[in-house]
Parts: sequence; C-alpha cells; structure tokens
Amino acid sequence: MNSLIQRQIAFNLSSSNAWDAFSGHRSQVTSLLKHGWDPSRLCILGAGNCNDLDLTTLIQSHQDIHLVDIDMDALAQGVAKQNLVDHMYVHLHGGIDLTGMIDQMSHWSPNSALTETDIADCLDASTRCLEQIPGPFEVVASTCLLSQLIKIVVDTIGENHPQFVDVIQSIRLGHLRLLLQLMVPDGLGVLITDVVSSDSYLPLASVPDQNLSQVLVQLVRQGNFFHGVNPAAIVNLFRQDPVLSQQVASLEPVGPWRWNFGPRHYAVIAVKFQKR
Ligand SMILES: C[S@@+](CC[C@H](N)C(=O)[O-])C[C@H]1O[C@@H](n2cnc3c(N)ncnc32)[C@H](O)[C@@H]1O
Repeated sequence: MNSLIQRQIAFNLSSSNAWDAFSGHRSQVTSLLKHGWDPSRLCILGAGNCNDLDLTTLIQSHQDIHLVDIDMDALAQGVAKQNLVDHMYVHLHGGIDLTGMIDQMSHWSPNSALTETDIADCLDASTRCLEQIPGPFEVVASTCLLSQLIKIVVDTIGENHPQFVDVIQSIRLGHLRLLLQLMVPDGLGVLITDVVSSDSYLPLASVPDQNLSQVLVQLVRQGNFFHGVNPAAIVNLFRQDPVLSQQVASLEPVGPWRWNFGPRHYAVIAVKFQKR
C-alpha cells in the first residue's frame, strides 16, 4: 500500500469516533441525498467512516445504496456503527481509488517533471473505477472528497510546482465528469465540498449561521479557501466545460453550512445538478 493511501487511512482513523460532532453536517448531507424516486439507487463517493450519512434514513428512500471509498476498513466500521452489517441493500466498494492515479502520484515530488500526458492522465484516469462500480445510479454524491483528491497534489508536487494548477484542474474536471458518467439520464448529482476551515480562519466556528454566506464570499475573495474548490469556479466549470455543460440540465448551489469536525470547523457547500 502506498504512502498516500496510508495517510488517508490514518486521517480517517483520526475522525472515526466523530459521530456526535458531525451531527449538524450529517443532517445537511442526509437531507440532500434522501430524495430519490421509486426505484432509485444511490451511490456515495468518499463515504469513508459514514459519519456524515444517516444510512438508516437513506435506505428508506432508496432501493439500494453503494458506498465507495479507498478505505475499506472505514466503510466496514462506519456501516457496523449504524448496525447495517451485511444489509441486503447496502453495498461496500472499498479499495477503489477515485483518481485512478494514486500509484503514479505516490512517486511524484516537487522536483517531478510532469509531461502533457501526465496532466491528461489526471483527467482520463478518473473513470478507470467505472468497471468496479455497478452504475449507473439515479442519485450520485461526492461527500467532501474533492478537497481530499486535490490535497494529494498539494502533498506530492506542492503548490509551487509549475504545473500545480494544471494538475488540480485536471483532477477536478475528471471528478465532475466521473459523477456524470455514474448517473442515469435525468439523474441527480450532488457535489458536496468543504471550502475553508478554521485552521486558516479562526473565527469560523462562531460566525452566526445567517452571516456564513457573506463571510464565505469574503474569504473566497481574499483567496482563503482550499485549492480547487472555489464554489463560483465549480459552478462555472459545470456551465463552461464543453463535456459537462452538454450533459447538465440544471444546477442549484446549496449552502454554505458549517461542519464541526472536532479539532476544526469547515464551511461546506453543495452543488446539485441534474443530468440531461
Ligand atoms: C473527508 S472524508 C469524507 C467524510 C466521510 N464521509 C466521513 O463521514 O467521515 C473523505 C473521504 O475520501 C476518501 N478518499 C480520499 N482519497 C480518495 C481516493 N483517491 N479514492 C477514493 N476515496 C478517497 C477518504 O478515504 C475519506 O473517507
């Protein structure tokens, strides 16, 4: 197992007991995903510990649920905590790398000379996982995964690498295209992402809910947000990328809301989109 996967597993272990802290965030995520239609199948990418998913509620509105993550143990323990081990309609797909590039990226460093092919691979490899996931689905969600995929690039080549921006743009676009490829026509996609944390904006935990939107706009204006997850840039990408824009019938930004992670708080947004 490469060091990037080990790091992700350690990160998941550090928050595996955060069920109580995640309560408000879990309500937001669950209510965004619970509207299926009969019979609907739900696929969640980055389900990990499942602390942000009330699976018992979700199984009432979906025919079956597919949980996908690189960390199989996190999925297994997350489902066990919600008393859903071996549930007929809850399917675990662990050990799946949703970048398709994690082995290649584990050899990258700030001195790596990346070629055009490497950048193109970051886009194309995101769909390598399709044969391991039994789609398509009526509802597909990505739950605070995008920032983690981009963090791999920060942790390997680093922000000062000349192709840093190209690589994160390819990973982001690949992820959004993957979501659409997993969806049935007319299906619902929900991209949920953390945008900034109290590590870089200390007062985040105490911002009144009604001011959170305004504060987030200011933070984004000041450049205080995680790489690649500027909410406006994501919405623009859905509208302007030739592949995405052809497939997306409607877009609805949701949030922000706050995610109490325990050691820090995050501001989180979602974009709901419907496939043509
Ligand atoms: C911040 S967590 C999401 C929160 C999680 N649903 C929970 O309740 O704790 C991000 C998830 O993305 C997963 N992840 C990170 N990189 C991945 C990759 N390359 N492929 C698949 N999953 C990945 C992690 O294992 C982790 O479970």
